[in-house]
Amino acid sequence: MPHKISLTRYLVEQQRMDGHIPSELRLLLEVVARACKTISQAVNKGALGGVLGTAGSENVQGEVQKKLDIIANEVLIEANEWGGHLAAMASEEMDGIYLVPNRYPQGEYLLLFDPLDGSSNIDVNVSIGTIFSVLKKPDDDRGVEAADFLQAGNRQVAAGYCVYGPQTTLVLTVGDGVAMFTLDREQGSFVLTQENVQVPPDTQEFAINMSNMRHWAPPVKRYVDECLAGKTGPRGKDFNMRWVASMVADVHRILTRGGVFLYPWDAREPTKPGKLRLMYEANPMGWLIEQAGGAASNGQMRILDIQPTQLHERVSVMLGSKNEVQRLVSYHAEEE
Ligand code: AHG
Ligand code: MN
Ligand code: MN
Repeated sequence: MPHKISLTRYLVEQQRMDGHIPSELRLLLEVVARACKTISQAVNKGALGGVLGTAGSENVQGEVQKKLDIIANEVLIEANEWGGHLAAMASEEMDGIYLVPNRYPQGEYLLLFDPLDGSSNIDVNVSIGTIFSVLKKPDDDRGVEAADFLQAGNRQVAAGYCVYGPQTTLVLTVGDGVAMFTLDREQGSFVLTQENVQVPPDTQEFAINMSNMRHWAPPVKRYVDECLAGKTGPRGKDFNMRWVASMVADVHRILTRGGVFLYPWDAREPTKPGKLRLMYEANPMGWLIEQAGGAASNGQMRILDIQPTQLHERVSVMLGSKNEVQRLVSYHAEEE
């Protein structure tokens, strides 16, 4: 049997051979992976663990919190606060930033996460996940503040997600391509199952919530109409559609077999750029997709080049197979 490479070994080798990751970052990623294992266990228990249902509270974005949103948030904080590798954390489920308490040493990294992505799928036993992004704290002696998190996605030093589906899979980039690790429950460790993940440049599969069609902007409507027109339409081929309503699961499918994912601006809430959050959803997913040879845009510009102005900022998202994203960008340019 070929030798199994654990996440630990993969990270040690990244540190040793390629100099991609300093030891503090390696520790951070190990701790995030450990937290994901804990969340995976809670997810698996479901009703038996009393983790389903709503918590009876709302987050800063006015969304009803599920019990698992809060559990996953706590697991990530507790796992990460004491190790000395972090200065602060930010989460979808927390209004402001979370400073590492004074009783622990402060590190030089900032961790952002969507602790539980796909909350509407928790109770119906469909794939959900955790998304994370790692930035470096600006190089100075003062304490950390929320503004330190407002760095463009191109400054990320690590990003990834863990999908809790039929398998629990951790997907990671430290800027050297994308690697996937499947959780071996008997061993209790993540095992490398795919390296150098590539998103094919073309696809015949798109992902968008079609129920919002009447609210879309003309370039998005045009793109989807052309896909729906199939073989006899302008694209000259039939398209398939998938929408899991968990970004982790949709992105995981795209990293596995290609496709394009859209959560664009729509006229339901015209003043918001979109539904998804830039700093802990679009940026980490955008970087993973780019590292796998795909593209990620808001229709006008590369998502990773957007300068954030708020922690919980929203963004229009179009990512996946490169040629499809380029087509969407060109439709937006023509419209303007
Ligand atoms: P979250 O559960 O973290 O709030 O994220 C849900 C997001 C994303 O995962 C998914 O793609 C999208 O919301 C689904 O939205 P719709 O229910 O509008 O389709
Ligand atoms: Mn989410
Ligand atoms: Mn979430």
